[in-house]
Amino acid sequence: MALKCAVVGMGGIGNTHARCYKNNPLAELVAVCDVDKAKADKAAEDYGCRAFYDEEEMLKQMPEIEVVSVTTSGYENGSMHFEPSMIALSYGKHVLVEKPICADVRDARELVAYADKQKLYLGCDLNHYFTGPAADAKQRQLDGKVGELIYCIHKVGFNGTQDSYKKMMPQQWQMPYSHLKAFCAHPFSVMRYFCGDIVAIQAFLDKPGVRKTAEDAMLSINSIHCKFANGGVGYLISQRGDAMFGYGGWWSYEHCGAKSTFAIENCVEKLHVWDPKELDPTRGTMNQATPAPITTEYGVSDFGATFPNRINAFLEDVTNKVPREYIRASGRDALATLEYTFAAIKSYENGGALVVPEMLPPLHGDVSRIKTPWAW
Ligand SMILES: NC(=O)c1ccc[n+]([C@@H]2O[C@H](COP(=O)([O-])OP(=O)(O)OC[C@H]3O[C@@H](n4cnc5c(N)ncnc54)[C@H](O)[C@@H]3O)[C@@H](O)[C@H]2O)c1
Repeated sequence: MALKCAVVGMGGIGNTHARCYKNNPLAELVAVCDVDKAKADKAAEDYGCRAFYDEEEMLKQMPEIEVVSVTTSGYENGSMHFEPSMIALSYGKHVLVEKPICADVRDARELVAYADKQKLYLGCDLNHYFTGPAADAKQRQLDGKVGELIYCIHKVGFNGTQDSYKKMMPQQWQMPYSHLKAFCAHPFSVMRYFCGDIVAIQAFLDKPGVRKTAEDAMLSINSIHCKFANGGVGYLISQRGDAMFGYGGWWSYEHCGAKSTFAIENCVEKLHVWDPKELDPTRGTMNQATPAPITTEYGVSDFGATFPNRINAFLEDVTNKVPREYIRASGRDALATLEYTFAAIKSYENGGALVVPEMLPPLHGDVSRIKTPWAW
């Protein structure tokens, strides 16, 4: 039986969630909600479901709702996730919240703890690793082909130059940490997906001259050095339209293991593999400086393809009643990315000092049963 779903917050991303539910046989979109009446009414008309302008009213009138997507925004593009998510959980609904899980890490801790207390699923739209290249790269790791982590480099951003610079006017972007909070949940989630928990962080945040001249508050250059629990190291560099993309496009992730290396280009597009056991001898050998990788192209260039994949995974996990600690891109996983974000802020505010992120809440159930995906 399809899960009865509702979406709260009918901006661009809320409409994306609504379309995903509409097109997925595991879901039945029954209601949309926005404090802006016109947006709710338009969406209800588009998707053939009921419109509400107040979430509690919706949940009282439609007790049959089982899943609520929270796609509100607010300052720093995440501040309004906490309250609607807590309300949905208090009514016994499973929640899929947009990233960042919350704007404040204390709210995120409370939200994750409350979902656990309510014994409900809390997932987050950490959609960047719900892709063909990431799935194949993860399979290589699980098959033991990658080996111990040596280092990873994740480079993500937006195209631009000083000549194309335009101050982002909405108030949500006029905050120093808006790029770090609203965007870097994604690269942190990807690094953690492949490398595990981060145990130490050092951050340098800055902005280019053009932003300084414009008195733009946003710290748009985020340079973050990480140490993982498994001993490997990683580097995250992100910028928001201050420079043109170089190698790897808008989103590249390179992962060097003790056995082989892989790199993902443009998030959804390509996977490159440098594995001495698989290298094509006609295209270079280990003895050459740069043996050519084996490249798989996925025929996808639209990043939007990540949303139906991620939302389908949440619907599958809820439908299949998987143990809560096993769901993909859980609230706890999203809390991890926010703990790293706040550790990066603390590091920056202390001149680049080394910061240990707060511990995550323990996984539930019998922890010894859990197969750690990065235990090669
Ligand atoms: N996962 C991704 O790849 C991705 C990409 C872009 C944005 N996002 C996230 O998606 C979220 C939404 O982004 P957007 O661009 O659609 O924002 P938006 O501002 O265009 O839309 C948010 C909507 O929520 C409504 N709203 C706010 N509080 C509400 C409440 N309590 N009840 C009902 N409606 C409420 C607003 O009226 C607005 O229509 C943000 O948190 C953003 O960070 C995720």
